[in-house]
Amino acid sequence: MIKFWSYKREYQIIKSEILKNLNHTLSKGVLFFGEQQLKFEKNFARKYKSKYAISCGSGTDALLISMLSLGIKRGDEVITAANTAIPTISAIKSAGATPKLIDIGEDYLMNKDLLKKSITKKTKFIIPVHLYGQICDMDEILKISRNYQIKIIEDCAQAQGAKYKKKYAGTFGSTGCFSFYPTKILGTYGDGGMILTNDKKLYMKAKRIRFYGIETGNKKNIFNNKYYANEEGINSRLDEIQSSILNLKLKFVDKNIKLRKKIAIKYFKALSNTVLKLPYAHKNRDHVYHLFTVYHPKAKKIMRLLNKRGIQTRSIYPYPIHKMKAYSKLFKNNKNLNNSFVKSKGIFCLPLYPELKKNEVDKIIKEIKGCLKQV
Ligand SMILES: Cc1ncc(COP(=O)(O)O)c(C=O)c1O
Repeated sequence: MIKFWSYKREYQIIKSEILKNLNHTLSKGVLFFGEQQLKFEKNFARKYKSKYAISCGSGTDALLISMLSLGIKRGDEVITAANTAIPTISAIKSAGATPKLIDIGEDYLMNKDLLKKSITKKTKFIIPVHLYGQICDMDEILKISRNYQIKIIEDCAQAQGAKYKKKYAGTFGSTGCFSFYPTKILGTYGDGGMILTNDKKLYMKAKRIRFYGIETGNKKNIFNNKYYANEEGINSRLDEIQSSILNLKLKFVDKNIKLRKKIAIKYFKALSNTVLKLPYAHKNRDHVYHLFTVYHPKAKKIMRLLNKRGIQTRSIYPYPIHKMKAYSKLFKNNKNLNNSFVKSKGIFCLPLYPELKKNEVDKIIKEIKGCLKQV
């Protein structure tokens, strides 16, 4: 069976380095807020051309901490895309705000023409979701943000390293939020997240909020008074173990993105003359292919046939937010989310990860072509 994804292959390649790192880290006697976390924040900020980076417990928390740091209030509205992952919405709800969904375009990204129409007096933030590895139309979204004086929080969980006109994902908004969930472009062996910002005040505030509201010193993560909260916060730390793994893996993230692109190019070449709708990759945007989406109205059947032929695929995501029991009440009156619904039923993703072998990519292509003859 060709797996949709597994961390085990990569682990076999980097095992000795990982274990050496872990031993070094655990021998230090510091489990939180130590040298590994500081190093990782510094390396991440430098790599993605941002002034500050604040690590935290997950991508969901990165979104939540961003909203709390930027002063969200109960009753505020936050606009995002209807086809996003659940956590974008749960972060908005945890912040006490109301999510507003807008439909997607043929590129599966937030439809910027609908964005303007969704803005009300209550709109506090726009969260563009750079889904599947490609950045939204940031020129347009920034223009709207400036015209309406609404801040942007970027959801970059699926787009680390992606660029829009040579500028990195996460550097357009007030903050950029990343996830290090294992399947992501940079994944750890557990949970983790990061916030990028160029605003020093926001940086200091986000650092407090991620750790119970406790004040941190300027240079290092040394707390001014570890038992005194200056404001309300949460607990969302990136521990030393995860930081050490991420520091190590950050070194070859670019190489891995190159390998992803190579596989994507192969899929494009081999499948462009089939009936499958392949990902829409914009010019001037550097797609990092976190996922390789294909669309076919009979997706479910094709996925079943592929599975029988030894290929795992995944539907990401099979339900848009407004069709979920948890959230459908909120969007009863929104009749404008049709494309998100249609696409959720027909999109499925092919295996694509740096360790996928050439003969496996060839087999995937051959079997898809075979399956298409059966539908
Ligand atoms: C688009 C998007 N936003 C946010 C998240 C949340 O990240 P995490 O799982 O690290 O909380 C994810 C990851 O699942 C995601 O794909």
